[in-house]
Amino acid sequence: MADSKETKYFTLEEIQKHNHSKSTWIILHHNVYDVTSFLEEHPGGEEVLREQAGGDATETFEDIGHSTDARNMSKSYIIGEVHPDDLSKLQKPADSLITTVESDSSWWTNWVIPALSAITVVFMYRLYMGEE
Ligand code: HEM
Repeated sequence: MADSKETKYFTLEEIQKHNHSKSTWIILHHNVYDVTSFLEEHPGGEEVLREQAGGDATETFEDIGHSTDARNMSKSYIIGEVHPDDLSKLQKPADSLITTVESDSSWWTNWVIPALSAITVVFMYRLYMGEE
């Protein structure tokens, strides 16, 4: 029997295309919302929704601290979920920040190890020459 609650999945590429006033989609907690008809009704103004159109608005949505009413209201605009293959891409910015910090520390190590090796070689050479 067919499942009536079958979930629709959208890729990030497809969601990003809906970033204009004729079709405005946003992502909140991995769910995809079509807020086109809600733009003018949004108490926070349509501009804030337009700015996030086609992308992940979860952080901004949570920062504002929407009421329970607002959260319940938002459910009626859900049209599907972000495709499971694309979920990892939503966290990308934080990951690349960590990588940058790590590569900075390896840059530091790459300079300190050769410098210490050079000092040791000079020290050994002087010790050897001093003994002769
Ligand atoms: C379907 C999604 C959304 C729904 C149903 C919704 C609904 C609402 C409602 C009912 C309010 C009135 C205050 C409250 O009850 O909390 C509100 C305020 C607001 N919303 Fe949304 N909202 C949505 C998405 C967003 C997003 C994605 C953003 C930011 C990018 C946003 C930014 C704001 C702002 C700035 C206010 C005004 C807060 C204030 O005046 O203190 N909303 N929203």
